[in-house]
This record gives sequence, C-alpha cells and structure tokens, in this order.
Amino acid sequence: MNVTEIVFSPTGGTEKVSHILGTQWNENTTKIDLSDTRTDFAKCNIAPQDMVIIAMPSFGGRAPAVAIKRLKQIAGNGARCTVVCVYGNRAYEDTLAEMEDAAKECGFRVVAAVAAVAQHSIIPQYAANRPDSSDEKQLKEFAVKIRDKTEAAASVPGSHSYKKTGGAGLVPKPDKSCSKCGLCAEKCPVQAIDTVHFNADAKKCISCMRCVKLCPDNARKINGIMVSTAALAIKKACSVRKENELFL
Ligand SMILES: Cc1cc2nc3c(=O)[nH]c(=O)nc-3n(C[C@H](O)[C@H](O)[C@H](O)COP(=O)(O)O)c2cc1C
Repeated sequence: MNVTEIVFSPTGGTEKVSHILGTQWNENTTKIDLSDTRTDFAKCNIAPQDMVIIAMPSFGGRAPAVAIKRLKQIAGNGARCTVVCVYGNRAYEDTLAEMEDAAKECGFRVVAAVAAVAQHSIIPQYAANRPDSSDEKQLKEFAVKIRDKTEAAASVPGSHSYKKTGGAGLVPKPDKSCSKCGLCAEKCPVQAIDTVHFNADAKKCISCMRCVKLCPDNARKINGIMVSTAALAIKKACSVRKENELFL
C-alpha cells in the first residue's frame, strides 16, 4: 500500500503525528510538503489506491488558509484519506470540518479523522514534549483501526460554517544576534521575510513560528507581553491533558 503524507507543519509537531500514523501503514511514505513555496501542487500525483494523510495544525480553531489553498490544487482521484489536525492542547474547533470539506473538494474519500496534541508552537509550556510515548502508542492503535475500517464515510466533528478567524498578530522580529544567514526567509511558508533586513511583512506573516524555531542564532523573537497575555488567557483550557481522538 502506497502511503502519501500531505503535510503543513511549520514547527514539526504536525509532521511527527502524521509520520507516526503513516509509517504504521508503510515504513516508506511519500511526503508532499504544503509549506514548500516552490512546489507546483497541481502536478502532485495521487493514485486511486493510495492511502493518504492530510495533516495540518489548528490555528485559532481553523485550518491555516494557505495550507487549504495549496491542498485544493491537488487531485485526490478517489484515494482514501485521513484528515489529521494537530493542536496545542487548547481546542481545535472547526479545523477538521474545514479539512474534510477541502479534501472532498479535491476528490479524496475521507474515511477517518484524527485530532492529536503536540507542543504549543507559540506557548511551548503547553503540551510540552507531546506527542510522547503514550501518544505514539495510541496513534499507532488508531492507524490499525483506520486500516481495518470497511465502511466508507467518517463522522467528522466541527461546524461547516467555521468559526471566525482572527490572526495571532504575533510577528517575529530579528534581534542583534541575527547573522543574516537567510534561512528564515528561505523557509518561510508564505515568503513574508525580506532578504535584506529579515523583517517579516505583517500583512503576509501567519505567525506560524517556523522562523523562530529554526533560527540558528536564536535571534527571532515575538512580543513577550503579548505571549504572556495569550498564555494567561488559555491557561485554564491548556492545564488539563487532552487525549488524542479518532473519528471513524
Ligand atoms: C498562529 C497559531 C494559532 C494556534 N492556535 C491554536 C488553537 O486555536 N488551539 C490550540 O490548541 N493550539 C493552537 N496553536 C498551537 C498549534 O496548533 C500546535 O502547536 C501545533 O502542533 C503546531 O503545529 P506544527 O508544530 O506542525 O507547526 C496555534 C499555533 C499558532 C502558531
């Protein structure tokens, strides 16, 4: 069985979850990276007999718009697919519903949905170290259930009118330790960073935190007061461990 992982994972948590599931079906999976600005997604080849994972993080309870836009260029050709949303232990609201709609529009058959938890990419003290070994065990069990499933459609949670999006508004800036290596600009999923001063265009930036995470100089920072305020606002929701969920 060929397994294709179609993944948007700015800081790696979503990719980890997707890979745990995918490698349970086949050790060698093919990856389509929705954060890669150079890929022509219309040319991606999905065969009808492939098993596909579509994985995205939840941003404000929604799927990242850029990831949905790129996904919609891919032809699903009737392949079976599992939509996977990964969130930072607060909530994922309509993320899976939005992903299901997009996957169907592409021509995939959505047979399952998974909501899984990974470290919060803005507030790393929440869901720190997740997915952990217990998540890994549970996700592998989910993969077996999905593989063995015989009925067609999945019962995916969330509202199809989707909650309103409001961007996180956290635009990372370089500090004095920036060595101008250019990695941030090269890897930015929305090409928001200029290659002279390495400032992010606030209108383009989606606050995904990739540049903060991958900067070798640890030079990219977000506003500490805004992060502390956000951390406090979601403290209650994030303080109890949420378990991964499977929807068949
Ligand atoms: C802009 C933004 C918005 C987020 N919104 C939510 C949210 O609504 N609920 C939640 O539980 N986690 C939220 N998170 C945390 C991410 O969903 C979580 O850390 C995810 O694992 C990130 O995926 P990645 O590591 O593949 O980038 C948000 C993170 C970012 C960057």
